[in-house]
Amino acid sequence: MSFSVPAPLEARLDELVTHYPVKRSASLMFLHALQEHFGYVSREAVEWTAAKLGLQPINVYELVTFYPMFRQEPLGTTHVKVCRTLSCALAGSAALREQFCKKLGLDSHAHAPQTTPDGKFTVEFVECLAACGSAPVVLVNEDLHERVTAQAAEKILSEGSRLEGAAKGKTPVKGASGAAS
Ligand code: FES
Repeated sequence: MSFSVPAPLEARLDELVTHYPVKRSASLMFLHALQEHFGYVSREAVEWTAAKLGLQPINVYELVTFYPMFRQEPLGTTHVKVCRTLSCALAGSAALREQFCKKLGLDSHAHAPQTTPDGKFTVEFVECLAACGSAPVVLVNEDLHERVTAQAAEKILSEGSRLEGAAKGKTPVKGASGAAS
C-alpha cells in the first residue's frame, strides 16, 4: 500500500521540527498530526515518521503502543465512546455499551475498540469523560451525550447510519442526547 503525506502537512511538520532542540522530540506531534489526517497511525506512518526524524521505526512504534490515544486501525465513521468510570458504571454504561454492540453485531465482551465490517461504527469503552454529574455519558465523534437512555442510544445509532460517506471521525451526530426522567 502506498503511503503519501500531503505536501502542506509535510511542510507543517518540517517547520514544527525546527521548534525542538532535537528532532526526536517532535515524535508525538508527528503522530498526532498523522492520526488527525489519516484517522489512525499505520505502520507506514510509523516508518515515515522515523525516517523524517532520523529514528528507527521501533522508537516511534513504542510511542504508538504506549499512549492509548494513538490508534493502529481506522475508526468507523461514527465513533461511539461509552464512559465506564464509576459514575457512569453505576448509571448503567455497561448496559448501554452492550446495547450498542448487540445492535451492531459486535462482541460486547471484547475489551478492544470494535469496528463494524462496513466501517460505519466503532464502539469502545473509555475512562471518565469529565461529565460525571450527568451519567451515563457517551461521546459520539466530537459530540457529548449526557444522561443517555436506551432510547437515546437507539437514536445515536440511527443518526450514525446516516453518516455513511462523511469524513471519518469529523462529523458529529447532533441531537441524539436524551435526558433520563
Ligand atoms: S464517570 Fe463517566 S463522565 Fe466521569
